[in-house]
Amino acid sequence: MTEQRLRIALQKKGRLADDSYALLKKCGLRFAIRGGGLLARVKNMPVDLLLVRDDDIPSFVANDAADIGIVGENVLVEEQLTAKTGLDADIQMRLGFSRCKLCLAASETGPIQKAADLEGTRIATTYPGVLGRFLQDKGINAKAVEMKGAVELAPSINIAESICDLVSSGATLEANGLAAFETILESEAVLIKSGRTLSPEKQDIYDKLLSRIDGVIKSAETKYIMMNAPKDKVAAITALLPGADAPTIVPLAGNDDLVALQAVCTENIFWETLEELKALGARAVLVLPIEKMMA
Ligand code: PRP
Ligand code: ZN
Repeated sequence: MTEQRLRIALQKKGRLADDSYALLKKCGLRFAIRGGGLLARVKNMPVDLLLVRDDDIPSFVANDAADIGIVGENVLVEEQLTAKTGLDADIQMRLGFSRCKLCLAASETGPIQKAADLEGTRIATTYPGVLGRFLQDKGINAKAVEMKGAVELAPSINIAESICDLVSSGATLEANGLAAFETILESEAVLIKSGRTLSPEKQDIYDKLLSRIDGVIKSAETKYIMMNAPKDKVAAITALLPGADAPTIVPLAGNDDLVALQAVCTENIFWETLEELKALGARAVLVLPIEKMMA
C-alpha cells in the first residue's frame, strides 16, 4: 500500500506564503521551498505542500486536489460568493496572521466620503463578490470594475471613482492619495478543509498538525510571569494576572514577608499590568516567552 500523505495547499509566493511557511516550521515540519517547485515534500512527516496562487486554494481544497489549505479569509469568502456551484471548503481554525481589511476608499478630497456617495459611480476591485454583497445589502447601485491588481491606480487613470481593496499598513492608499471610508470585511489567515472524510491515516496526521498549530498560536500569546510578592498581596496580585490559573507560590529563604510567585498567563501582559503589580509591592518581575505548549 502506498503511504498516505496529507496534502496542504499554500500560497507559493507573497505575504501569506512567508507566514504560512513560518507557522509550519514552528510546528516542526522540515521542508525546503525551491525556486520553481510546485510540490514540496516534508521530510519528517507524511505531508506534502502544494504551492499555488492563493485564489486557487479554496477550489483545490473543495475539489480534492488538496486535503487542507491555508488562505486569507478574504480569498475564501470571495471564492464562496463567486463559485458557480457551492464551494465545499470551510474554516477549521483562525490563524491570527496576515490580518488585513477589505475597504472602500476614494480620493481624500473628492466627493465620495461615505458608502451612500457611491450611488451611480464606478468602483475598481479584485473582490467583485464581497463588494457585490455589500452593495446589495446597502441597496446601493454602483458598477464594479474588475481589476487583477494595482487597483489603487484606478481613480487617477479615471476608470473608477473609488476602489474596494485590501488595506494592511495603509501605505498603498496613502501613496495614491486615497483614504478608506468603510471596512466591508476583516480578514486573517485561516485553515480550511472540505467536508470530505479523511482516511484514518490522514486524519491522524491532520489531528496532530492541528494540535501543534493550536500550541504555536497559544504559546505566542502566553507568557510565564515570575516575581517576588508580599505575602498579604498574593490574592490581589493573582487577580491582576490576565488569563492565569492558580499561581505557584514558593517561600523565599530567609524572608517571611515575601514569597516567589509564578504563573502562566494566557493573555498579553501590558506595561500597565506590570505597573499595577509594582504598586502592590511586587518586585523583580520577569515576563518570559513560552516556546512550546501542549495542553
Ligand atoms: C495588496 C493590496 C493593497 C496592498 C495593501 O496588494 O491589494 O494594494 O497590498 O497593503 P498596505 O496597506 O500595507 O499598503 P499587493 O501588494 O498584494 O499587490 P496587488 O494588489 O497588485 O496584487
Ligand atoms: Zn494591491
